[in-house]
Amino acid sequence: MSARIAVIPGDGVGQEVVPEGVRVLSAVDRGLEFVELDWGSALWERTGAMMPADGVAQLRGYDAVYLGSIGWPTVPDHVSLWGGLMPLRKSFELYVNLRPVRLLPGIKGPLADRGPAEIDMLFIRENTEGEYSGTGGFVHSDHDYGLAVEVPVFTRNGIARCARYAFEQARQRSGRLISVTKSNASLYNYVLWDQVVAAVGADFPDVTVERVLVDAMAARMVLRPDTVDVVVASNLFGDILTDLGAALQGSLGLGASGNINPERRWPSVFEPVHGSAPDIAGRGLANPLGAIWSGAMMLRHLGDGAGADRVERAIETVCLEGRHLTADLGGRASTREVGDAVLAALA
Ligand code: NAI
Ligand code: MG
Repeated sequence: MSARIAVIPGDGVGQEVVPEGVRVLSAVDRGLEFVELDWGSALWERTGAMMPADGVAQLRGYDAVYLGSIGWPTVPDHVSLWGGLMPLRKSFELYVNLRPVRLLPGIKGPLADRGPAEIDMLFIRENTEGEYSGTGGFVHSDHDYGLAVEVPVFTRNGIARCARYAFEQARQRSGRLISVTKSNASLYNYVLWDQVVAAVGADFPDVTVERVLVDAMAARMVLRPDTVDVVVASNLFGDILTDLGAALQGSLGLGASGNINPERRWPSVFEPVHGSAPDIAGRGLANPLGAIWSGAMMLRHLGDGAGADRVERAIETVCLEGRHLTADLGGRASTREVGDAVLAALA
């Protein structure tokens, strides 16, 4: 397969885990061309911008983007997020944030007596609007009676396109979809969400939909994870629940994700769930498996399903053998050694 991929290692451990992903992907698929971009907080410190002014236009020329992590203690988090990833998600209509939550064989999860057969979920998080629409402002900000207003925005189109993707995923898996809301406390947003999900569901008579309130969902993921398969949720709820999901996987370092434009009009962006991990950055301690797994998702999106399967099998082998794991998974291997182990498992 031939594809041009923009690589943005970004900040902190992104610089350590992304190179391992690139090594693994290059070994699996020789047609990939990787072009590295030095965007992120270091660029911001030099220039005052997280990415060049024409950054979005530059990325348009690639087939996909492979991202590490953006954010560093020297830059306010809202600046780093809104200066990079957030505009990209909107400009490129990356309206699906896809996050598999699987407990891999060999990994000890935090839930006693729950094994890989019981923790295998797929989250579809709406990725362009909802609580992260960026609509709002400050009033009287110079005064002690100042206030802030931030308005969640839900549109029929925004909900429907995300829901449709979720129904398609559910159809390919168990035929069960959980729609997460807070429709009891919300008078408008989630009422619309429920209506639109029901309307889209009419096209998927083979998929059953269960509506679950977000607070109950958090408890259910811990108490009855085996009853959760495909989940669709708003931007905020999906963000929170998928960090819980990453915890159920045994480490945030294992979380993988794709910001996807299903129509393929724009390049999709693949990244590990974790951030820049300033507490461990620069010491070769970071777990690269989430980044490598995200790379597998990118391969699948680009059309190399067999390559993606190979990478995922190799990750599973490394976890099952348990000989080359980073400290977050109870091992003593370095980031590089885990990358080596994945490469060895491929062969
Ligand atoms: P974080 O995900 O960077 O770290 C949380 C905890 O998980 C830390 O204890 C860290 O050591 C550990 N951890 C993270 N990745 C790991 C890995 N690969 N292997 C082993 N342990 C790992 O979240 P935090 O500390 O809240 O945020 C740090 C910075 O990252 C902030 O500036 C934040 O805005 C940014 N961030 C960026 C994201 C992105 O680029 N999509 C996502 C989350 C945070
Ligand atoms: Mg998050």
